[in-house]
Amino acid sequence: MKFNILTLFPEMFSAVTGSILGRAAENGILEFNFINIRDFSTDKHKKVDDYPFGGGQGMVLMADPVFRALEALGKQSHGRMLYMSPRGRILDKEKIMELSGEQEITILCGHYEGIDQRILDHWHMEEVSIGDYILTGGELAAMVLIDTVSRLLPGVLASAEAAMEESVYSGLLEYPQYTKPREYRGMEVPEVLVSGNHRLIRLWKLEEALKLTREARPDLFEEFVMKAEELPKDEQKVLEKILK
Ligand code: ADE
Repeated sequence: MKFNILTLFPEMFSAVTGSILGRAAENGILEFNFINIRDFSTDKHKKVDDYPFGGGQGMVLMADPVFRALEALGKQSHGRMLYMSPRGRILDKEKIMELSGEQEITILCGHYEGIDQRILDHWHMEEVSIGDYILTGGELAAMVLIDTVSRLLPGVLASAEAAMEESVYSGLLEYPQYTKPREYRGMEVPEVLVSGNHRLIRLWKLEEALKLTREARPDLFEEFVMKAEELPKDEQKVLEKILK
């Protein structure tokens, strides 16, 4: 998957191009193409923003440097065109899965109070939000999108981690995890996890996941209960116990 990222702050993206996604880029699974919008300003002071027509707070990113930056990508398609904005549709599990099927995604990161609407209209940009709060710019939001979409691509995560995604526990929050040592400062690892009984371990994980989900995300818990008949009999018993 290729990401074209138009930003005024390309250096911010070192936060995602290191570690796991950096390795994926070295392995050819991901490709990052950063475009500094300021490089496409024709102004002698490299200005990219101006006051809004009609008045109002703050500055607006001008159309011309963004048009030039997109045109410099070449004639071919730029894939999905996204603009990170609190005005957009929320980036949820469905949207993330949909985007993970793309070959190329072009992301525009805004700054200032907004961007000239003609950019969005002409390039048919889809606005995407990561939540109902305002960030100072689109970069952090773009990094969230890139990270969560990339981890779904085959080969980005180690297989064990990727398998979690498809486990029977999807739809529930994750159960608590423990590693060595078995006892730490008087705190013991739950006995069942070291019992070697795989059936009991599976049921314990389910029970813990159910309790955590009911507490923190009653909405997800409700949804899970609705499709309980798809569960194996022994897991249905665990759910019944929780519901009592
Ligand atoms: N830019 C500023 N706030 C944002 C948000 N919540 N989501 C996406 N882009 C943004």
